[in-house]
Amino acid sequence: MHILHVMGARPNFIKAAPVMSALASSGDVRQTLVHTGQHYDANMSDVFFRQLNIADPDINLGVGSGSHAYQTAEVMRHLESVVQEREPDLVLVYGDVNSTMAAALVCAKLLIPVGHVEAGLRSFDRTMPEEINRLITDQISDLLFTPSADADANLSREGVAAEQTYLVGNVMIDTLVRLLPEAPSRWKGPALRRWAGRPYALVTLHRPSNVDDETTMRETMDALADISRDILTIFPVHPRTRLRLPGLGTEAPDLNLVEPFSYLDFLALQRDATLVITDSGGIQEETTFLGIPCLTLRENTERPITVTSGTNTLVGHDMDQLRSEVAGVLAGNYRKGQVPPLWDGQAADRIVNAISSWWGAGRLARPTTSIGLP
Ligand code: UD1
Repeated sequence: MHILHVMGARPNFIKAAPVMSALASSGDVRQTLVHTGQHYDANMSDVFFRQLNIADPDINLGVGSGSHAYQTAEVMRHLESVVQEREPDLVLVYGDVNSTMAAALVCAKLLIPVGHVEAGLRSFDRTMPEEINRLITDQISDLLFTPSADADANLSREGVAAEQTYLVGNVMIDTLVRLLPEAPSRWKGPALRRWAGRPYALVTLHRPSNVDDETTMRETMDALADISRDILTIFPVHPRTRLRLPGLGTEAPDLNLVEPFSYLDFLALQRDATLVITDSGGIQEETTFLGIPCLTLRENTERPITVTSGTNTLVGHDMDQLRSEVAGVLAGNYRKGQVPPLWDGQAADRIVNAISSWWGAGRLARPTTSIGLP
């Protein structure tokens, strides 16, 4: 069997690595890796390939930045001829980024089966670009690999057939489980040793709803400056966010605005943090697994299990609530969560098993009729 993987952005690499590795050990599978080039900075892409031990991409589409329509269209234009030439039996797409939806669209139109890893998550907020990507990708995928039971329920409600849906667990946690033993030694390395031994809050922000509006961004930076007076604050700044910082004038001695970290350094930072403040999807999950209090600056989440079972609290854009939640955590008041079922480091093996039973059952083509909504 020939499987072609499409990945484009930082969180895709973390999800694809364990799947590629499990497929490589499973025997007779040929793999082709396509990087769309959505993320292209060395610290957003290359370092992840190295640390996660992903082979160099066979093809880089070099799409780069642009509007959503531009980025999606460029991936589609360039990918079409690649899949026509390479003729994969199955294309795997990951997560909810523009590259994910674009690749699924190309393959669906060419009648090439698509498997979506991390299917079924819903924030029910269609102002989020990722929610649109999730809805479309799931409707046109053939195999849907879900991380938790809520995702199965969402797919079922949207009319996706149960036989296409596989509850496999969380592949991001596979990578975390594999690499967690390497985290402690990162504190001796050049990126982290200046903060070794000190308690700290770890911050990441990159969602358009948080960083694209100047007033929201200014209020958030003011709140972070206040928080940094109570606890050292480490804020690796995403390129999208970096564009918005000039002119905000937020300076505080213990508010450290730094470049994005590598996977291993960031894992060490999460593992040993007093608390995490974020708007990322994956970090809500990783902190739940690690048992670290997570304050999420969003009104909703497509990962509700991190709130109902895990350590995640939705703070929205209410900066007074953020200040008081941080004070609560610093006073020792926070919920101890539980790790959700199947977040155990074995999700990629379950994906491989599902693919081989689908293949063995001769389901080589996508259904010719639409499953349709009720
Ligand atoms: C994308 C995903 C988001 C994911 C995030 C992880 C979509 C719709 N969004 O958001 O779901 O959580 O990646 O990081 O696909 N840039 C660089 N260097 C890079 C990459 C981006 O400078 O290597 C700049 C771009 O020029 C652009 C901005 O960052 O101005 C946004 O990049 P883009 O990939 O469009 O979206 P993200 O905000 O990273």
